[in-house]
Amino acid sequence: MENETIYILAIESSCDDTSAAVLNDKKVLSNVTATQKIHEEYGGVVPELASRAHQQNIVPVVHQALRKANIDKKLVSAIAFTRGPGLMGSLLVGTSFAKSLALGLNVPLIEVNHMQAHILAHFIDGQNDGVPHFPFLAMTISGGHTQIVLVKDYFNMEILGETLDDAVGEAYDKSAKILGLPYPGGPLVDKNAQEGNPNAFPFPKPKVDGLNFSFSGLKTSILYFIQRETAKNPDFVAENLQDICASIQKTIVNILMDKLKKAVKKTGITQIAIGGGVSANSGIRKALKEAETNLGWTTFIPSFEYCTDNAAMIGIVGYLKYQQEEFTNQGVTAKARYVLDGRR
Ligand code: KG4
Ligand code: ZN
Repeated sequence: MENETIYILAIESSCDDTSAAVLNDKKVLSNVTATQKIHEEYGGVVPELASRAHQQNIVPVVHQALRKANIDKKLVSAIAFTRGPGLMGSLLVGTSFAKSLALGLNVPLIEVNHMQAHILAHFIDGQNDGVPHFPFLAMTISGGHTQIVLVKDYFNMEILGETLDDAVGEAYDKSAKILGLPYPGGPLVDKNAQEGNPNAFPFPKPKVDGLNFSFSGLKTSILYFIQRETAKNPDFVAENLQDICASIQKTIVNILMDKLKKAVKKTGITQIAIGGGVSANSGIRKALKEAETNLGWTTFIPSFEYCTDNAAMIGIVGYLKYQQEEFTNQGVTAKARYVLDGRR
């Protein structure tokens, strides 16, 4: 396989984004994502609507990715796809499409764990923070996941802690919903937080042992707080939106940073990489940059387009697996609960 030009066509469809990308080795030639707007009306992802939208989007998204990359599909070396974890109906669309395309083009098929892809997104060429060195700690924070992972090698990872209930992005989105903000509310809470006083309304931090997280208690305490205050003053939220958002943001960022500090203490590793949609959050970005100065950490935040769900991150895992000839066969099925362990 030496000197061969490798093109990976990657497909991601685990939740509500239909995405396709073409990579030449570690370089992204195209990364096209169709975000499903339909869920906004429902205040969250509706699985049945998501899989239907994937079916509508997948052909045009894949075509566009190939066109943008300026690659004829005959040049594709392998097809990589997200096998899981995610919503079953959504995963099935990407999995079946990838299988048929691999069969049609007569190229190998590579299955990818979505969580591993969020972590290995750091190895895509051309990002500002450069590449972390093994071993490093990765914190994946998004609407579907919250994990701290010890990354010993590309395919040797160990989960040190994860959420016991809601993911951090869900905590953001549910808090936003309580405040009457549209879905997904995380970015809006972040935007308002930047103008507010983070010490205006203290919220309790959950007590969870070890490196695990819990966010459901925080959501409940925000709900009760808002109900109590609006009973006294119906305009409470409108009058205090920025301070409320800043206070929520401070609590969430503190929860994340406390666990990271614990993980650093436990492992002695100070290289910290984050991934997932919540990596876009200004509070966590600022806290990580401060930790570089105050705690001597080296931190890695992927380019925004590789933080949220995207196929380029599936493509980089595809490329790394291609090099090891780690292919799967047509018998492969989607896996809604796909635990990240060892080589998976
Ligand atoms: O990785 P992602 O696109 O999809 C999932 O796998 O969930 O992450 C989406 C999540 C949503 O919960 C969204 O509200 C959150 O990331 N998010 C943010 C910000 N940008 C996106 N949360 C807080 N602050 C942000 N700036
Ligand atoms: Zn994700």
